[in-house]
Amino acid sequence: MCGIIGILSNKEVSSTIIDVLKKLEYRGYDSAGIATIFDNEIRRQRAKGKIENLVNLISENDLPGTIGIGHTRWATHGIPSEDNAHPHHVGSVVGVHNGIIENFREIKEELINKGYKFQSDTDTEVIIQLCSHYINNGYNNRDAFFKTIGRLEGAFALCFMFKNDEEKLYVTRRSAPLVIGYGKKDVFVGSDAVSLSNLIESVIFLDEDDVAILSKKQTNIYDKLGERVDRKKKSVDLNSDIISKGNYQHFMLKEIHEQPEVFGYATSSFINFKTHKIEMLNEIKELDNVDRLIFVACGTAYFACAVAKFWFEKYVKVPVEIDVASEFRYRDTSFSKNEYAIFVSQSGETADTLAALRKVKGKVKKTISVVNVVESSIARESEFVLPIKAGPEIGVASTKAFTAQLAVLACLAINFSNKRGLISKKENSELIDELVSVPGIMSNIIKKTSIYKEFARKLMKAKNALFLGRGILYPLALEAALKLKEISYIHAEGYPSGELKHGPIALVDKKMPVICFAPVNNLFEKTISNVQEVQARNGKVLLITDDEGASRLNSSEISMIKLPKFSNFISPIIYAIPSQLIAYYTALYKGTDIDKPRNLAKSVTVE
Ligand code: M6R
Repeated sequence: MCGIIGILSNKEVSSTIIDVLKKLEYRGYDSAGIATIFDNEIRRQRAKGKIENLVNLISENDLPGTIGIGHTRWATHGIPSEDNAHPHHVGSVVGVHNGIIENFREIKEELINKGYKFQSDTDTEVIIQLCSHYINNGYNNRDAFFKTIGRLEGAFALCFMFKNDEEKLYVTRRSAPLVIGYGKKDVFVGSDAVSLSNLIESVIFLDEDDVAILSKKQTNIYDKLGERVDRKKKSVDLNSDIISKGNYQHFMLKEIHEQPEVFGYATSSFINFKTHKIEMLNEIKELDNVDRLIFVACGTAYFACAVAKFWFEKYVKVPVEIDVASEFRYRDTSFSKNEYAIFVSQSGETADTLAALRKVKGKVKKTISVVNVVESSIARESEFVLPIKAGPEIGVASTKAFTAQLAVLACLAINFSNKRGLISKKENSELIDELVSVPGIMSNIIKKTSIYKEFARKLMKAKNALFLGRGILYPLALEAALKLKEISYIHAEGYPSGELKHGPIALVDKKMPVICFAPVNNLFEKTISNVQEVQARNGKVLLITDDEGASRLNSSEISMIKLPKFSNFISPIIYAIPSQLIAYYTALYKGTDIDKPRNLAKSVTVE
């Protein structure tokens, strides 16, 4: 994921920017760049590849200036190249960006129609061109910046400079990280506080949609309506984990909030935004003769496979087997050379998943791993690796890795469907657009904290809970139950709603909360009959549905979370967010050790 740095100083800034860019390398990048303002001129150097290439350029062409911005780019829209590298510069505006702009195409077309010429394939240049367009139309820098942000959809962190405003940095963030750091005399902006840690004494973590206009002497922060707001400065304590948790009380909450950004990166590393196609596993060309796809994983990663089964059956139309690794490794199973085996693991070190991979190697056509840690054993031992690029996941309860696994598996289903010639151009585009819309939907849903807290207050007193879902949301019922039991220690079970009357309904009484996932789809009416069965037995129903579902039910006896309307295809990804937040707040109210729940390990390297 891209990294951002901005500095306001009394001294030359380019070498400090380079130092910080090196610290941001861990986020992954394929090009880097710096811009400064000196003598009322924007100076810029960008280079593809390692930061050393940029250093060499700067040693040949000095970059003077006491104000500057820098960037490590991890390519999404457009190949890694100098033209696509940040900072992007148009007219008097120069800026860097981390994130994905969902509506960049629409804005780009608008600007092209007005006669603007683009120099890169990036969504970032669209933002800079738009801001420059507002300036051309008489807006001052501040108003142009606000107006630009007002047009953007998606997840983004921005840091801008203006040629005629050498003393200021203009920054904002939405579902992407950005902090302001204060040194003895200098002011910094960065993607994280850790990369600034040797330069700063205190830090401000910006809230969602905050806009900050910074000078060496003044920090003016505004909310998205343009109203001045106060954000507390925190002193930096290098021994404290506040640095990496930011404003969040727990890593789990931070990682839940990172999902819009992480999901955007996970998908966009495979979406070619020019051709509107998913490009991955180019080595696998022929999928005509495939007999079966086998997915193997543990815990949350297994539930990601259970969701993927729906996608692969529907779009790839091959038999799909999913299995938990600890069972799979010991079963007598026949394999054929026309099968692909796919292993999903955040850590890439889970002993059972690794053993399952070793079991099938050489017996199936190829093994593919979907991992977060690309240097892990599972990644090294599988023939193809699909990284989910979620960044380090510290909370034991898996959150962002789950949705990033879904991102990659959804891309793979679309890619395989194309390779089998089963999907029309139109459907391919629609599915990609739906994936692109996910970060925006996630950002809106994450913000509605009070409703999850209300659900959690109801749940915290329960000893048991049931989660119900049908179709593609059945695996989400399993995942939501796992999240709740892991961190709140409430016994929870996930069931397919239709299975209720075959046993679990015996447990339903007035003490049993039943959380039901009920989007309006082809199974809505059936799910609602299951809800009514619970109500008839005095069960406490908590329903997660959409606006239409809520108005069709119109029942004051049911507590509801109303989500916006989206397609069935992306619904398991979106429903993950309320599931995680309900579990989180329930555990918070119970006072459990959320990031390190008892008896659990983040990486299960033993059988
Ligand atoms: O690292 P892995 O994805 O292979 O880990 C698999 C499970 O151990 C993991 O998902 C576990 O279930 C989590 N604690 C769930 O939140």
